[in-house]
Amino acid sequence: MDRLIIHGGRPLRGSVEASGAKNAALPLLAASILVDGQVSYHRVPHLRDIATMMSLLVYQGAKVAVDDHNRLHIDSRPANQPEAPYDLVKTMRASALVLGPLLSRFGKARVSLPGGCAIGARPIDMHLKGLEAMGAAITVENGYVNASAPYGLTGSRICFDRVTVTGTENLMMAAVLAHGETVLENASQEPEVVNLAEMLRPLGADIAGDGTSTITIRGVDALHGGTAEVIPDRIETATYLAAGLITGGDVMVTDTDDRMLEAFLSHLREAGATVEVHAGTIRCYAKQPLKGTDVRTMPHPGFPTDLQAQFMALMTLAQGSSTIRETIFENRFMHVQELVRLGANIQLNGNTALVRGVEYLSAAPVMATDLRASASLVLAALAAEGSTEISRIYHIDRGYERIEEKLGKLGAEVERRSGSNHMLTGGDFG
Ligand code: EPZ
Repeated sequence: MDRLIIHGGRPLRGSVEASGAKNAALPLLAASILVDGQVSYHRVPHLRDIATMMSLLVYQGAKVAVDDHNRLHIDSRPANQPEAPYDLVKTMRASALVLGPLLSRFGKARVSLPGGCAIGARPIDMHLKGLEAMGAAITVENGYVNASAPYGLTGSRICFDRVTVTGTENLMMAAVLAHGETVLENASQEPEVVNLAEMLRPLGADIAGDGTSTITIRGVDALHGGTAEVIPDRIETATYLAAGLITGGDVMVTDTDDRMLEAFLSHLREAGATVEVHAGTIRCYAKQPLKGTDVRTMPHPGFPTDLQAQFMALMTLAQGSSTIRETIFENRFMHVQELVRLGANIQLNGNTALVRGVEYLSAAPVMATDLRASASLVLAALAAEGSTEISRIYHIDRGYERIEEKLGKLGAEVERRSGSNHMLTGGDFG
């Protein structure tokens, strides 16, 4: 299994470019199933989850190619296998995103249930209820969701019990070619949902209201080929800004978009950081140590759960205490005990962590447990005195493109050591 060795204590300085967002790219790739033509994608990040989605589309029969300019071309017209097998779904829960598009296109789909996950139970019941409301017959047998709608899906009014990002994306994709109008209420307002609507509209889809809590989709007969551009990764952007701050440095992220990060940036300002925003770049530094700042995760435009662990790492070295409350996932505190191993003072009480700032962190062997937890360990290790070894680093490769290279460009000393027993376990992937 690969490990990262981080020699901490160096202030990170300089600029780094944001990659395309993994969580935006995944639904965009799944949406190719709906398109009667080829889609050319720009800014798809080179990540393991993206490779998994490509394998899934190839398994279904799509033609996938990458050109010399790093563009990805997908033609799903030859696809003839409306199935997502367990072996692929277990390594990436987002594989369930193909359910809506497959059902819409083939009138049937067989998709493995994702199962549990390191950060919570993460059921997909709201995806299934929404598809049933659109006329699908759904059974769950032998670990698979079997869905059928031989006469096509029909538009419906669907109100989500709680905000679900991939649930909104799945039903939006299912509705694009359905008969009649679908209204999604209490829909996710996440930028990744907007990116999906922005991809589909120029291909012929009729979608309005994305970016608000009510999205209206009027079914059309077909979508034609075209291009799609993945938005910058807001979580990666914020992670590099946090890396600058936790090391007492000064980092600028380019080719990004501050409008997707307002809650995070306002919490940094509240903590005492200077945040400068200019035409697609964000720069952060602090003249004094940061102050303890409270955070509560919420759906967009609230503070993202995908930045909770990284913000907690920052707060371990802040002056005073911070209360960090996780409201999206029930078990997203696996990083806490690992941060404590690095010298942090954190007490957990239910869904709330009380972080009391300490003077310094010190190196220790730690273990990554999920993608964003790994990012928080990288941050803490960058600030810690000594050399920290982070094992199970395959988690980070799911969501951070060229992380050693990017951190190295900012002055960090990071090495990857390979081991031979690289192991993928099921059920703990986002
Ligand atoms: C997306 O997961 C992201 N993944 C996650 O990114 C992110 O943490 C999460 O949204 C929240 O922002 C992708 O976009 C691929 P949800 P998703 O459905 O869509 C419950 C990362 O590190 N729920 O919005 O699976 C669910 O259990 C990750 O990149 C149901 O109860 O999350 C959770 O408590 C991991 N039933 C809450 O809703 C359902 O049918 C929100 O989950 C669906 C969700």
